[in-house]
Amino acid sequence: MAGDGRRGDAENAPPLPPYPSTVGHPLTHSFRTMRDVFGFRDRALANHDVVRVRLFGPGDVYHFAHPDHFDRVLVSDREQFRKSEDFRIAFGRGLVAAEGGEWRRQREVLQPLFRRERLRSHADTIVEQVRRRRRRWDDGERIDLPAETSQLSLDVLFATLFGRELALDGDEDVREAAGRLSDWFTPTSYPLPNWVPTPARRRFEAGRRRLRAVADRLLAEKAANPPSTPADADDLLSLLVALRESGAGERDALGDDRLRDQVVTMIFAGHDTTATAIAFAFYALATNSDVRRRFHAEVDRLDGPPTVEDLDSLDVTDRIVTETLRLYPPVYTIPREAAADVTVGGYRVPAGSRIFLAVEQVQRDPRFFDDPETFRPGRWTDGLRRDLPDFAYAPFGGGPRRCIGRELARIEAKLALATVGREYELRRESTDADPPLAPEMTLGMESGTTFRVVER
Ligand code: HEM
Repeated sequence: MAGDGRRGDAENAPPLPPYPSTVGHPLTHSFRTMRDVFGFRDRALANHDVVRVRLFGPGDVYHFAHPDHFDRVLVSDREQFRKSEDFRIAFGRGLVAAEGGEWRRQREVLQPLFRRERLRSHADTIVEQVRRRRRRWDDGERIDLPAETSQLSLDVLFATLFGRELALDGDEDVREAAGRLSDWFTPTSYPLPNWVPTPARRRFEAGRRRLRAVADRLLAEKAANPPSTPADADDLLSLLVALRESGAGERDALGDDRLRDQVVTMIFAGHDTTATAIAFAFYALATNSDVRRRFHAEVDRLDGPPTVEDLDSLDVTDRIVTETLRLYPPVYTIPREAAADVTVGGYRVPAGSRIFLAVEQVQRDPRFFDDPETFRPGRWTDGLRRDLPDFAYAPFGGGPRRCIGRELARIEAKLALATVGREYELRRESTDADPPLAPEMTLGMESGTTFRVVER
């Protein structure tokens, strides 16, 4: 199963996708890509572990679709692969985009906020946020599920990591600005050079400005009542303010203007990703009656709303989350840039090339998963995790830059499913067999996808 250019020819440059009449012309090729991002990528990766795609703006980009190649990029050869310019444009020098010593120091400083026990101590807060939102739904009502889970994950992010609850019908500036950031990554912009001011990029720019202003407001609020030292800080905003006040900020690579970048980074990285996972878990439950029955049997055994003690015994719910992240990985592709000429799977990739790790493709590859297109949480009961090659399952990336918020995301998703599932079933009314996917930088659920809330 080694990722050595499966089914590829022996040429040095990786194969181009199956568009024989257009490959010679980058412009035509780019426009085709723009029109059909998912279909395009799927066709390109169907028969190869490494493919090259010609784009008008960034030139050739490379898609890798084998766990061995993920391992090289994220772990064994990671010095050769850096974060791409997109990250710096969107996040400044926050944790997602920083590199080298600056990244290491930031990660060290922020890591304590993401320790498992600390996150588990937020369980009641998370459940309360879910119930607060759920109380607004009436029996029989239709809800816009992606909008609801998006608001919910923002509520949870603020009530836990940020240490400041958002008003349900207020804080509109935060809610609106948070929804705009992903515009930078819309697929129609991606084949064009970064300087082209597409409508999506203009929206992104406005959103980023607004989000930065919001970050300043949140930091100023905390500064009015700061913790005495960074060690006393219990949440992200307090920690950032304490670092600044103590003068440790510069040393910790979290100086003044970077505080803002860090707030923007966490809102973006922790918000839509988790919201998408929860929305697709509800979608999977609505469309798989056997799984739904087992899930209801499990949550019906709870004495009341789930608590931290229940987290370890919600096995069915846990596997539903795992399988959702396999079939619908919110971060379906992980971008990098080659820092030097490299050879991957026998193919030459020149320095400066953009690279995408095709998480979704690998997680749906029949070489690693039986019946990969089927939602089957039960597959995770029979030692599969132990038998899988490293990186055949990588919804949170891997290596030193693995997602810092993965535990928070999993806890939140489990508690949201169990809290809602005890009382309600969310029914999908559309008969469309295809999942309502909306690809941006993170995979989303098509906006306006409705579900009917039915009391159980
Ligand atoms: C289901 C939800 C989530 C998914 C699928 C997800 C996925 C990922 C992935 C794939 C990466 C690696 C990116 C790369 O290597 O370029 C990443 C990194 C990151 N994630 Fe998440 N994430 C989720 C939730 C969260 C949450 C809740 C937070 C914070 C509250 C968060 C914060 C971050 C940060 C700061 C990084 C950068 C870490 C570093 O470079 O050191 N994520 N995430």
